Amino acid sequence: MPLHSMLDMMRHAQQNGYGLGYFEAWDTYSMEAVLEAAEEENSPVILGFGGMMLDTKWLDEGGVALMGAIGGHYARKSRVPVSLILNEAQTMEQVVQGIEAGFNTVMLDTSAWEWDDAVEAVAKLVRIAHAKGVVVEAELGRLPDATADGIDDSTAFLTDPDTAAQFVALTGADCLAVSIGNVHLLTSHYAPVDSAHLEAIHSRVSVPLVIHGGTSFPPEAIPHAIAHGVAKFNVGTTLKKAFQEGAQTAISGSQGMSVHDLLGSHKSTDWCIAGKLAMKERVRALIRLYGSGGHASYRKE
Ligand code: 13P
Repeated sequence: MPLHSMLDMMRHAQQNGYGLGYFEAWDTYSMEAVLEAAEEENSPVILGFGGMMLDTKWLDEGGVALMGAIGGHYARKSRVPVSLILNEAQTMEQVVQGIEAGFNTVMLDTSAWEWDDAVEAVAKLVRIAHAKGVVVEAELGRLPDATADGIDDSTAFLTDPDTAAQFVALTGADCLAVSIGNVHLLTSHYAPVDSAHLEAIHSRVSVPLVIHGGTSFPPEAIPHAIAHGVAKFNVGTTLKKAFQEGAQTAISGSQGMSVHDLLGSHKSTDWCIAGKLAMKERVRALIRLYGSGGHASYRKE
């Protein structure tokens, strides 16, 4: 199936009261977990890779191109509508490489940049991307990060509604990731999300909104978020946890077996296949929470 515009997919999600999931992959096994989950739930889905957790040197020396090639391969064989995002790229060079590598949505993480630099970079990216039919996600506000000791909110700040409207007007970004109390990488409890603040942003910003930190976004806040402009939830950490648990269980039960069956075989004995299956179930559960299942034929609805 050809790639779909993430903006079209988001608009449909908004009109029909559901959210899209972006389930961050990091290799072929995790990419298969996402795609198979979406196909089993008959759901549109955002496929892709993220730049935040990856080694910069690896990314810059062919990593972006490799991820684009992997993502493009799975997108083409998908039976459900997909968009392919290069998420949270750290430099302009990386997003430009991402566009060349076939990602049809890109996001440059300027959340820690000075205002003028962020506006200039995102506006420039929008010009480059739109000339090639590529959608741009931007972010304003800064999420706290969970750390081993708790939550580091020393640099975090909520998205200001008026400033967000100005940012979108100045840059032309297609959608905006917002900070409303959501937290990156948090697994110990749910984040203290400020739903009234989301409403204030939504009343000022007309483009679809995005929630990062999907792992700890409280399930009971999801319907309200969808009703107030959120069209996509980004999920990462809980997927890696599920993969790790699945693989660990397989590793502990594999004494005496051939290493060729355990590593890279893609057979049911493969540790990474066990990880993939566990991750797939977590993605399916999230698709049900976001309500996107059954919307795969959205162009005909
Ligand atoms: P979590 O790892 O907290 O789910 O956040 C992922 C994310 O926001 C990717 O953009």
